[in-house]
Amino acid sequence: MSVVALVPAAGRGERLGYTTPKALVPVNGAPLLAHAVRGLFDSGRVRHVVVAAPPSDVDSVRTVTASLAPAGGAVHVVPGGAERSDSVRLALEHALRVVRDVSVVLVHDAARSFTPPEVVRAVVEAVEAGHRAVVPVLPVVDTVKQVNSEGVVIATPDRSFLRVVQTPQGFDPDVLRRAHSTARDATDDAGLVERLGVPVSTVPGHQNAMKITTRFDLAVAEALFAGGGR
Ligand code: CTP
Ligand code: MG
Repeated sequence: MSVVALVPAAGRGERLGYTTPKALVPVNGAPLLAHAVRGLFDSGRVRHVVVAAPPSDVDSVRTVTASLAPAGGAVHVVPGGAERSDSVRLALEHALRVVRDVSVVLVHDAARSFTPPEVVRAVVEAVEAGHRAVVPVLPVVDTVKQVNSEGVVIATPDRSFLRVVQTPQGFDPDVLRRAHSTARDATDDAGLVERLGVPVSTVPGHQNAMKITTRFDLAVAEALFAGGGR
């Protein structure tokens, strides 16, 4: 039985504002995507990685990921789509075509490049224990307000019941396939699974699994991981 990780990496990184796509922006001498893929393999639980690359950069992505797979593993690269959910769907279709006996599918943003391998392991183990959808989460430290279209506060949800969600998100392969065949308009894959009525479980995430979105985030990542740590 195989664990496959899909890595959506096809975004342009508009908010980061580089001319190169975000996945290829270097930190500590390697592209963000290479750090993300290495973290997946370092978990010791992932055999196959399918990267959804920016369609114009498929060759560069093949070059930067070619040597990352351990013996018996592989990195596959496919062109991504217009939206993140399209990229995930294209990577999933490829994975289910080329990898036999997939038992767990992870979906992991290239932009969460420094996710610790222990988070990857925790997600895989929770799916293997029978949870069909699993997300790593952190508690919310700020008070959160709900506002109306005029920006006026209409509610203050009890933050003890709120969580911020990270990746990798882990799924039973059939659940993820059904989720992506019925809906597209969610900001994460678990959001699509929720609409099937399948329960989504949580495991502890990690601050290092922060998503690199802005220059500020990139500066934080450079400061934290310049020494090669994770
Ligand atoms: N992604 C993707 N295909 C898309 C859009 C996004 O595979 N069409 C990926 C990104 O490459 C990233 C992840 O989804 O790894 C999360 O998206 P985000 O952080 O928003 O990255 P970008 O879309 O590249 O950034 P921006 O929204 O600032 O342009
Ligand atoms: Mg985006």
